[in-house]
Amino acid sequence: MAKRGKWNSTLGFVLAAAGSAVGLGNIWRFPYVTGKNGGAVFLFFYILAVVFLGLVVMYAELSLGRATQRNPVGAFERIKPGSPWKAVGFLGVFTGVGILSYYSVIAGWTLYYFYISSLGKFSQGLTEAQIDEVFSVFVSNPFLTVLLLVVFIFLTCFIVSRGVSSGIERWTGILMPLLFLILLILSVYSLTLPGAGEGLKFYLKPDFSKVSLKMILSAVGQAFFSLSLGMGAMITYGSYLSKKDNLFASGIEVVAFDTLVAFLAGIIIFPTVFTYGLSPRAGAALVFKTLPFTFSKLPLGRLFGPLFFFLLAIAALTSTISLVEVATSYLVDERKFSRPRAAFLVGAVAVLLGIPSALSTSSSVFSKFAFGKSFLDLMDYIWANISLPLGALLLSVFVGYIWGAEKAALEIRPEKHRKFPGEDLWIYDLKYFVPIVLSAILLFSLLGSS
Ligand code: PHE
Repeated sequence: MAKRGKWNSTLGFVLAAAGSAVGLGNIWRFPYVTGKNGGAVFLFFYILAVVFLGLVVMYAELSLGRATQRNPVGAFERIKPGSPWKAVGFLGVFTGVGILSYYSVIAGWTLYYFYISSLGKFSQGLTEAQIDEVFSVFVSNPFLTVLLLVVFIFLTCFIVSRGVSSGIERWTGILMPLLFLILLILSVYSLTLPGAGEGLKFYLKPDFSKVSLKMILSAVGQAFFSLSLGMGAMITYGSYLSKKDNLFASGIEVVAFDTLVAFLAGIIIFPTVFTYGLSPRAGAALVFKTLPFTFSKLPLGRLFGPLFFFLLAIAALTSTISLVEVATSYLVDERKFSRPRAAFLVGAVAVLLGIPSALSTSSSVFSKFAFGKSFLDLMDYIWANISLPLGALLLSVFVGYIWGAEKAALEIRPEKHRKFPGEDLWIYDLKYFVPIVLSAILLFSLLGSS
């Protein structure tokens, strides 16, 4: 068997895992889902979900990956051979392709916004109507949205076909710090806007009368989505780690960085929304209708606009890479595909499934596809709000009881003979809190929404 890839260094791994985590989930999805769910109260449950579910499941995935050195399907199989548990791995493989299919549509939008902002489209003090028009003219062009979907998936598959350290690790490390810097600059600017007070109030002052089960499910779904959990991406990335790497520290770093980036995205978006009298409930278009205001007013906006959309596209790319990597590693490890063939096959399936999503903003069939949702929204609901929490639930039961939380904990410990900080709490959380909370949320939301 060909030698499996490995990260060149722990830092390379942290950057790659952070690259998977940080993406459109933080900058596109987080602000709009927060806006739709009432702002601060959503943020409150989101942070609870990150700490008590996300971080816990993050360690479960990374330890399973590193211990088995396998893709998600192979990892379950190695610990419990011949059992139905490997179906959880398959669920992850399908979820990866499912998310990839619509995620790449939005990633395509960022490419277009990069293009038009480099032409100076947002530098002439546009009005709200003009910014809306730029968006709606673009998304109602079926040819363009499908083309950009294909381009984005092709780029991803090209990088994945080059392998773990030469392809993925090299690409992720360089541009992330730059994205972070731009976000900091934009946040400082946003805080000087006249609507900053009102925006921050919406974003940071919770109104607990708005709590609902649906909102809590969205917060949990968003936490798993943003941290790339529940579908095996972190099992796969963990499987390229060696025993020397410090899993405990890496896990916290990835979770903290991801949460900080999402938080900053909110700090940028909500003051702008309230300054220009936009609606925080605008949905999937929110970022694309809000940030052009910032760039049209900001000194040097002519420069920051294209730079921002370029870096956002890169952040999306480092996430789509991990989405493709899960199914690819399965095909390479278990089905003996060559890496390029596996990657492009996965890409082709995602393009086919992605086309209806790309047409969701232009065709009447797909814009109201079912349950009052567009095809894209429906995909997002199924994969992010249902499939990820379900995958995380099954994974936590597997690691907690079948493999054994105590064995997994040994994998996380930086020093084998000493417990890691919070080890007992982690075991308890993984065995009881995560399964109970996730089952309850999934059950109630499935019953409640039908
Ligand atoms: N975490 C990525 C983001 O926030 C999306 C993603 C989800 C990537 C699941 C991999 C797996 O953009």
